[in-house]
Amino acid sequence: MIPSELINFKNSKKIIALTAWDSITGSLAEVAGADIVLVGDSLGMVALGYKTTLPVTLKNMVDHTNAVCRGFSYNLDAQPLLICDLPFLSYQCGEDKAVENAGKIIKDTPAKGVKLEGAEPETLDVISRLIRMGIPVMGHVGLTPQNFLNQGLKQQGDNYLTQEKIKQDAKSLEKLGCFAIVLEHVPNLLAKDISENLKIPTIGIGAGKYCDGQIRVTADLLGLTDKQPPFCEPLIDGKNIFKDKLKKWIEDERLN
Ligand code: KIV
Repeated sequence: MIPSELINFKNSKKIIALTAWDSITGSLAEVAGADIVLVGDSLGMVALGYKTTLPVTLKNMVDHTNAVCRGFSYNLDAQPLLICDLPFLSYQCGEDKAVENAGKIIKDTPAKGVKLEGAEPETLDVISRLIRMGIPVMGHVGLTPQNFLNQGLKQQGDNYLTQEKIKQDAKSLEKLGCFAIVLEHVPNLLAKDISENLKIPTIGIGAGKYCDGQIRVTADLLGLTDKQPPFCEPLIDGKNIFKDKLKKWIEDERLN
């Protein structure tokens, strides 16, 4: 599948996306049936031990994207659509630099597109250039964690003006040719309104059930993270389950 084919799912099949950061999580996401695997810059927290996504580098993204793909099956047709986040400062320092950095992801990894956050005028110029240069782009509006020093991590779109801005941003991203848009931590009815008024799919996280698809950070779903976001109920208490199993194994081994 190439990114533009995702539009065929709109109104016909709920799109499911999971994040992955290494070959094990890449393999898990594929065998579980995800349509999209995002190597998100959340790997800064879930794989590299940072407190935020800000320190993540382009090299981190390239290395982890290649690792994720090495976990996929050999059947190219069965593989999920692999998308890679552009990390902080890889697309904020001018269009040429952004093309060079996004191009590196497309040249040096099997990712078929990049995701980047926001829709400020400079970001829209960058997105337009990337798409014209042949690099598919997934947009991301609402809560944009790379901007957390301004926004915090709270829900976005809590009043008429900010809701109108998010709607306008989503429209602008569609107009430029983004193949899909992540809506993060916005009110459900705002996400519904945006989803109904776009031709491209919306992929929600903390944005309610009316989006065309859902994405979650796999470590949050599996209960592996220390700080669980309010919009992701873990499926299992992974951290404690694995800890208890390992503890038991260590205790048994000491007795042997
Ligand atoms: O980095 C990430 O994992 C993301 C998802 C939360 C959408 O951007």
